[in-house]
Amino acid sequence: MMPTKANPGGHDADRSLDELFAHRLKAQEPMLRKALTLLYGARDDFEDWWRRVLDVAKAAYRARPDALLALDKEREKTGSTWFQSEQTLGYMCYPDRFAGDFDGMEAKIPYLRGLGVTYLHLLSVLKARPGDSDGGFAIADYLDTNPALGTIDDLEMLTGRLRAAGVSLCLDFVFNHTAREHEWAQRAMKGDAEYQDYYLMFPDRTLPDQYEKDLDQVFPATAPGNFTYVPECEKWVWTTFYPFQWDLNYRNPAVFIAMLETMFALANRGVEIFRFDAAIYAWKEPGTRSKNLPETHALLQAFRALSAVVAPGIAMKAEVVAGARHITKYFGSGENAGRECQLAYNTALMAALWDSLATGSAAPATAMLQDLPARPSGTAWVNYARCHDDIGWATLRDRAGALWGADDAHLGFLTRFYSGEEKNSFARGQAFQPVAGEPFAATNGTLASLAGLEAALDAGDEKLIATAVARINLLHGVLMGLDGVPLIFMGDEIGLLNDYDHTDTPGCADGRWLHRPTMRWDTDGLTPDHAHARQRIFASLKAMVRARKTLPVLNAEGGIRYLAGPASSVFAYVRPGDGPLLALANFGADPISVPADYVSAQLGQGAVSDIFPPLSCAGEDVYHLAGYQVRWLMRA
Ligand code: GLC
Repeated sequence: MMPTKANPGGHDADRSLDELFAHRLKAQEPMLRKALTLLYGARDDFEDWWRRVLDVAKAAYRARPDALLALDKEREKTGSTWFQSEQTLGYMCYPDRFAGDFDGMEAKIPYLRGLGVTYLHLLSVLKARPGDSDGGFAIADYLDTNPALGTIDDLEMLTGRLRAAGVSLCLDFVFNHTAREHEWAQRAMKGDAEYQDYYLMFPDRTLPDQYEKDLDQVFPATAPGNFTYVPECEKWVWTTFYPFQWDLNYRNPAVFIAMLETMFALANRGVEIFRFDAAIYAWKEPGTRSKNLPETHALLQAFRALSAVVAPGIAMKAEVVAGARHITKYFGSGENAGRECQLAYNTALMAALWDSLATGSAAPATAMLQDLPARPSGTAWVNYARCHDDIGWATLRDRAGALWGADDAHLGFLTRFYSGEEKNSFARGQAFQPVAGEPFAATNGTLASLAGLEAALDAGDEKLIATAVARINLLHGVLMGLDGVPLIFMGDEIGLLNDYDHTDTPGCADGRWLHRPTMRWDTDGLTPDHAHARQRIFASLKAMVRARKTLPVLNAEGGIRYLAGPASSVFAYVRPGDGPLLALANFGADPISVPADYVSAQLGQGAVSDIFPPLSCAGEDVYHLAGYQVRWLMRA
């Protein structure tokens, strides 16, 4: 046998590679078979499909470059825990708005490393449809890139440069739908029955009307309904999101195989984390809301088992906009605990943190987090205050919402508060997808504008500016100590404000572009107040990241205990371990005195040291928390 790229050693190396594949497959096979049987077991040709799945896996494995095979082996050795480390810091950005293109991204690696970033989520990278592409979430070709950024080879080069700098690249894996411009959709449109079966197509409104009775609406104001008429083939197609995003039909095993091949092709280019976009919608079932179905979980388990065989160095991250009870299940539950996604966005937390900030009460954050079922070992939450999407208040309607009264009226209050319509509101956001007569909507706006910086700068009031900066630092500080990977959204580290001109850019009419401003690398044109605020936000975040990275107790495998705070405004938790850490975060504007008894009840008797900010508090009888302050304490 000839030596191959993956096997410079030729025959023997080939054999040992094959053995490794067989060894991994043996470990995964029982659960892979179970998952695929649930999905496709009723088909007469199941065994043929089974063999095809394994062929795809084997081919992807044999094409895996040496450097990535080495990464796989390394991560297999250390367990799937690399992302759980206290060293992990996530950052997400649009490469065009952040740095122009892939070359520009490479030039920004020192900036990202300087901030402490080890995990980079790049949005809108793959080739989307022209014009409005829902911010890159309507993909026309998964194996090609947005030409304005560079080629797919440039992307591969970038993944290598990032890896060399200790940064793992995360890309969106938009597996629920393709753009109507995708080749499969184009063929379907032309009447090709094979490709019409890649989507959920209907000859008339009979079934869509039946389904519609149980379905929710993602974009009720701009894209009402879940089905779109396609005049080219005179059929209706399922479109959960915009009419140009066609939902894939996972009942067809050919779709699963095609997307599996896609994922591995990108993994072999060096993508390390796959963000499973809109994961809850993957499987549809008549008579249900077609969300969070057992088959969707089986599908994710199948992707996971196969990635454990082909590329165990990669990780899957669930993007699930749902309440606390549902999101945890995406790590796998029951006998599949820990066998689904390794990472999941803590979507309800984003909303709960903003609820706490508006009400000055720790109760929303504490109740929501206490309500989160335990995570399986080897997994981690992704915790964030803002991202490219809106804040979905509906995620608070789970049981935890009932605990602190997050009923529709309260969610209506939050919608108005963050649109600046409530008395005493400091926020400058906008309601997203409001529908007349509905009690609440979602909210758009940058972290800084929602936290009051925009209004404070307009007022030119130094005290208000300082308070807004403190609110921003509070949210970042909370994220840094929580259980999981903290994720910073582009520009929040320097307090970028809302972009009100987004509607002037073609394809950017959707209200979420309000909080996707272009990165500002200098302070040209900013008022001195603004430039100063920006510098304070950045410095504070950097200091928090630095503190985080010195604390192994923050490793996600270590657990967390939420506490009743010393006052209703104080969010408190302990990260247990040899030297436990007590974190206090004051969501209120007023200072709070924390009795030494409260601290020693958590940390035990003896001297206490301030980990963040480093104030040296040994011997205090009372610990002071300023308005919106975060403090981390440990036994000295
Ligand atoms: C996810 C994305 C969002 C997009 C949707 C449809 O929720 O985060 O931006 O609109 O999926 O792909």
